[in-house]
Amino acid sequence: MKTKVQDKFTTLFGEGGQFFASAGRINLIGEHTDYNGGYVFPGAIDCGILAKIKVNGTKKVHLFSIDFDEYVEFGLAEEDKPSQSWASYVFGVCRETIKRGGKVEGFDAVFAGDVPLGAGLSSSAALESTFAFALNYLFNNGIDKFELAKIGQSTEHNYCGVKCGIMDQFASIFGKQGSLIRLNCKTLEYKYFPFNPKGYRLVLIDSCVKHELASSAYNKRRASCENACAAIRKNHPEVEFLSDAKRLWLDEVRDQIPEEDFLRAEYVIGEVQRVLDVCDALERDDYETVGEMMYQTHFGLSRLYEVSCEELDFLNKLARKHEVTGSRVMGGGFGGCTINLVKDELYDEFVTAAVEQFEAKFGHAPKVYNVVISDGARVLE
Ligand code: GLA
Repeated sequence: MKTKVQDKFTTLFGEGGQFFASAGRINLIGEHTDYNGGYVFPGAIDCGILAKIKVNGTKKVHLFSIDFDEYVEFGLAEEDKPSQSWASYVFGVCRETIKRGGKVEGFDAVFAGDVPLGAGLSSSAALESTFAFALNYLFNNGIDKFELAKIGQSTEHNYCGVKCGIMDQFASIFGKQGSLIRLNCKTLEYKYFPFNPKGYRLVLIDSCVKHELASSAYNKRRASCENACAAIRKNHPEVEFLSDAKRLWLDEVRDQIPEEDFLRAEYVIGEVQRVLDVCDALERDDYETVGEMMYQTHFGLSRLYEVSCEELDFLNKLARKHEVTGSRVMGGGFGGCTINLVKDELYDEFVTAAVEQFEAKFGHAPKVYNVVISDGARVLE
């Protein structure tokens, strides 16, 4: 990847420039909790975005994507938004940096990525974080790391139409090799947890299914949560986010909100607690409990939050049948991967069965990714 980026950069822009990188992410547990002020438990992974960037002394950005094999130029004013959706991520990062008082002027850049698209591994956060980090570095803006993550999140909100939480951008900025990070999305307190379970492996099985309209369905889930939260707040004014609510308080408003919103909120309140239970279990090396919580999350995401699909439910059931310790749909849902915590000795049998049986049923093979927890945004020497 580095040679490709380097060669293209030299062809288009000549000498100079610096390499920057950032990562995709996994999430052990804590799904759809971030925008509800709850906990998440992600980590950056060893695939991401690599960019070579050079300040060009003009007011224009010259950008080439290796993966889309496309060149785009844009200015830095609000009305200069490029029509290509891949380029609007970079444009959004420039605009959000400027809105925060940061300096951004013209630059030349070539980038490539190896985060599988649509797999729920946050290729878009990797792209945003790479550029947020790089612009901060190149223009010496002194913006802190949380704000860099928020630049990525606001890019999604204001330029890409997804009202996402902070998890993906946080993980891809703060990621640290070998560690998962528990983040309290309300207070932004976080803690690194070294993650090296002896005798187990984490493996992702990618259904390679991507559902259309995932972003509007995502925004709809968020609206349901906010609606349930507002109803609870009438009785309990201290409830700022849904994660502050007790299960009993949700029951009190059951007949005041649509059943659908009730089910979404029921899932979220359970999930917030499961993240804490998983962290406790990890401190005791109790992987059986971690895995059981993952199965509970899958059930909730499938039946209450309704962001799973036939292919992911199939993979989850298959994992149970093969005595995989934990398995669940990962990320926003509507397609993508399951994340599986598997004992070493069961790994080969499970992965072979998953690939064969999935292909026999759905007519295409799933992809298998072994997880390596890695560093987040950085400048490369
Ligand atoms: C997507 C969003 C995140 C988070 C997850 C679900 O990845 O970008 O903010 O809400 O879905 O946990």
